[in-house]
Amino acid sequence: MPATTTTIREPAATSVALIERSGAASLREIGAGHILGTLAGPGVVVLRGFQTELEEFEAFTRSFCSCFHRVAARDKLRDARGDGFTAKAPERNFTLLAHSEGTYQPFKEPDLAFFYCLVPPESPGGEALAVDGRLFLERLPPSIRSRIETQGVIFEAYWEPARWQAEFGIDNPSEFAAIAKQYPQLACEFDGENMHYRCRHSAIQPDAQGQPVFSNAILAHLPAVRHDKYRDARVYTKESNRVYFGDGKALPNEVVNTLIDIQDEVACAHRLQRHDLLVLDNSRVMHGRRPMERDGPRVLLTRFGHLREESR
Ligand SMILES: [Fe+2]
Repeated sequence: MPATTTTIREPAATSVALIERSGAASLREIGAGHILGTLAGPGVVVLRGFQTELEEFEAFTRSFCSCFHRVAARDKLRDARGDGFTAKAPERNFTLLAHSEGTYQPFKEPDLAFFYCLVPPESPGGEALAVDGRLFLERLPPSIRSRIETQGVIFEAYWEPARWQAEFGIDNPSEFAAIAKQYPQLACEFDGENMHYRCRHSAIQPDAQGQPVFSNAILAHLPAVRHDKYRDARVYTKESNRVYFGDGKALPNEVVNTLIDIQDEVACAHRLQRHDLLVLDNSRVMHGRRPMERDGPRVLLTRFGHLREESR
């Protein structure tokens, strides 16, 4: 047996399947099929004890995925040695609330997220969050659920040229018309060189197995967080970002705080070990991070990919 598999299950919280290396097994020997089969249970798999280099990490992800997602917000963190789709997670110390990658955008979101830990945090904290969107939806108050299900949400942002160019893979505003035509959920305008971005999104939709999930980018797209528990936390926010219900009304603070409370109830906070490789079903499980108690290194390689047709 190249590895042993156990499931770490906390009552009512997100579960994680742990695949631990046995002997000298390589990632290749575990096989994408076995990992995807395991992933179908909890939605998160941690492969432990597999030391690997960038080249092997990228090859491993290609055994699942035929194409990869460019994280526009982290364009400067891309690893120039690889194929251009591996980026380091930001190394500064902060809280990132749970979100599914790419779900503020009009494009089909990546199916899988891969995180490889090169340097784990030294101090307490700094855990990787995994939040099962099925459990999240079960706890969502019916009034919020029905509003999101009937209206969806709207993400708003103001982007300088480098950001919209990276988001859409274009150089000039004139190239945007063709994209807008393709994605009617977009309502973007240029103000000089800058883009006023607006995009409708469903926020609750079926995951890869057809189960409805709360899986979106709401909590990572807020202008501010006003939650007692997070008063002193360095939470990622951006002043010019907004999230609205589909009718154009901003999400009230109490709704945002309810979402944060549900996140905290169902989250698995995974304490990273060196060479842990996390695979998440991005259609179902949201990811985030907790702050470290003391500033220090925390180095993760990240990739997001679209499954090969034969793996679906
Ligand atoms: Fe992310």
